[in-house]
Order: sequence, then C-alpha cells, then structure tokens
Amino acid sequence: MSNLILKQMEVGPMENFIYFIGDKSTNEVVVVDPAWDANFLIEEAKRENLNIKAALVTHGHFDHTNGIEDLLKHLDIPVYINKHEVDFFKFKWGKENVKKTDSEDKIKIGNIEIQFIHTPGHTPGSHCFLVNNNLVSGDTLFINGCGRCDLPGGSVEQMFDTIYNKLMKMDNNTIIFPGHNYADKKSDLLLNQKETNPFMQYDNLMSFIGKRLPNLM
Ligand SMILES: [Fe+2]
Repeated sequence: MSNLILKQMEVGPMENFIYFIGDKSTNEVVVVDPAWDANFLIEEAKRENLNIKAALVTHGHFDHTNGIEDLLKHLDIPVYINKHEVDFFKFKWGKENVKKTDSEDKIKIGNIEIQFIHTPGHTPGSHCFLVNNNLVSGDTLFINGCGRCDLPGGSVEQMFDTIYNKLMKMDNNTIIFPGHNYADKKSDLLLNQKETNPFMQYDNLMSFIGKRLPNLM
C-alpha cells in the first residue's frame, strides 16, 4: 500500500488549490503554493499531526505565493522555486529560504520522491510536481484548460512546447491536480484530458496560438 499523502485544499477568493504532499509513515509533508491563509495551513497540519518540512511553489503569481511571508514567520523551511521564476519575479520575501530548482531536480519527503518538471508558458519558471503518477500542475494545465500566456513572462510558444512535448508524452494514467478549481472535476486522468481539454487538440503551433490567443489571429 502506498504511503503517499496527497491532500487537496481550496483557499482564497480565486478558487486556488493548495496541496500537502508527503509520507504517511513519517508524517512529513511539503505544502504546494501556500497562499491566502498561512494560519489555516498550519492549523490543518497540526490537526492531522503533519510536519510541514518545505514549501513548493508552482509559479510566482500572487494568488499562489501571498501566504509565504506569513508562513515563514512561523516555520523556517526551504521554499523551492524554479530558478527562472526567481530571476524573473525577484521576490522580496524569503531570501534565506528560497532554493532555486532546475528542470528534472528531485526532492524526498520521508520516503516519497517528488520530481520537478519545468513547464514554461504561463510564466518563465512555472514547474509541475510529479509524485508517483500524480502531477500537481499549478496554472500550467487546468482540467479542460491551460494557463494564460499573455501575462508578463508568458509565452504561447513555450506553452505549446510544454503541453505537446512534455505533458502529453507522460503516462496516460497520470492524474492531473490543477492549481485552481475551475472545472466540474477537481482532478482528472491525462488520458481523459487528451480527449476533453481544448488545448490538447492541436498538433501545430499556429492552431494552438489561434486557440490560446484568439485576438492575434
Ligand atoms: Fe498564475
């Protein structure tokens, strides 16, 4: 039986999903995108007897990061962010705590291994977290959607490459856990998303651009 903890929680006014990922046998977890309400997270961990050992940040937007400063007042933990994101956003918090990650880096929490996968497009240093066959996808991939590419640092070309050359090549049994509760399901199989996600229906860049940035066509 798997010792994996993967707990999805919805917080804040923008339907953000945050996650605990960890190991049941050691009660250690990381928190993904600690935003909006650090106290809630700390209380939730206490209630479940979990030890928060690190924070993982899918990308730098405020709705995914605005609880980090508060969290660090209570917990002196590393905050893992892709190196491109750190360079682009120049965060004012967490100088001592931020650990820059590279594509394909891995960390261990208890005996559970989490792999970082750099997935630029929504932002330069967006990354997803793969643990067993679960992909915590931030604002890169939503259920039946994908992140905007027209915000500072976004790139529709990079998003196309991310979706087609990275995400769609993953195992079909991968379960997608997105960064927002924007759909009627809170997670879904990659195999299903290949059929129903409108951004997975294009095999060439120009058509993808036409869908993602329709005002340019
Ligand atoms: Fe975002």
